[in-house]
Amino acid sequence: QYQQGSFPIVGRQEIADGIYDFKIQCPEMAEQAKAGQFVHIRCPGVTLRRPISICQIDRAAGTLRLVFEVKGEGTRNLAQLRVGDEMDVMGPLGNGFDLRKTAGKAVFVGGGIGVPPMVEAAAAYGAKAAAVLGFRDKSRVILEEDMKALGCDVTVCTDDGSYGRKGLVTDAVKELLMEGDVNAIYACGPMVMLEALATLAKEYGVRCQVSLEERMGCGVGACLVCACKTKTKDGEENYSHVCKNGPVFDAQEVVF
Ligand code: FES
Repeated sequence: QYQQGSFPIVGRQEIADGIYDFKIQCPEMAEQAKAGQFVHIRCPGVTLRRPISICQIDRAAGTLRLVFEVKGEGTRNLAQLRVGDEMDVMGPLGNGFDLRKTAGKAVFVGGGIGVPPMVEAAAAYGAKAAAVLGFRDKSRVILEEDMKALGCDVTVCTDDGSYGRKGLVTDAVKELLMEGDVNAIYACGPMVMLEALATLAKEYGVRCQVSLEERMGCGVGACLVCACKTKTKDGEENYSHVCKNGPVFDAQEVVF
């Protein structure tokens, strides 16, 4: 059951160029929220809400942390809000990650602005989590310290090698898989990255869940804006709503 209302902003920071980190006070939503779910936000000056994934949940403080990138008019206006202003939020929405613990480690993979939802997800595994985070270059690196604070073993990759190791997250993930002891992969980021991870997971027989980003309208399964192609276990293709059936899917269900 989701809620909709206006909630006060209690924290605001620009953590990289054009990437903002907000905290909103919404105890009931924080109580219900799960890693991988999202909230649907009305940005000042635009009609359509914007989906933003939940980065961290603090049930004791009753807050949700939301990290988003300014991509257009809506998010630009949203970023202008200050501590003390209110945000019109609907949530928590969608299906989150299935974080059931198995023996061994889990790898949490984030690409660019796909990193935020991996923080709350990795928190469930703490020191049994390995995080592999990919960014375009040094100026785009976010949430590395937050992941380390959870006890995760963090590897940062950049496309140009200006920070961490140079190259794709999939290469780093493959190395972890080859070392063994990995039982699950959780990921959010660009489709090409998710597809490569799905292939790796299949090759190594590891459970893999991916969070998809899609344009959204209603956010609750009532329009068709967020349709994506999926397949059943028998390979039969159909359509799913990213907002309602997702945003997290089993990687083998997604038609890339
Ligand atoms: Fe309307 Fe998903 S956004 S059905």
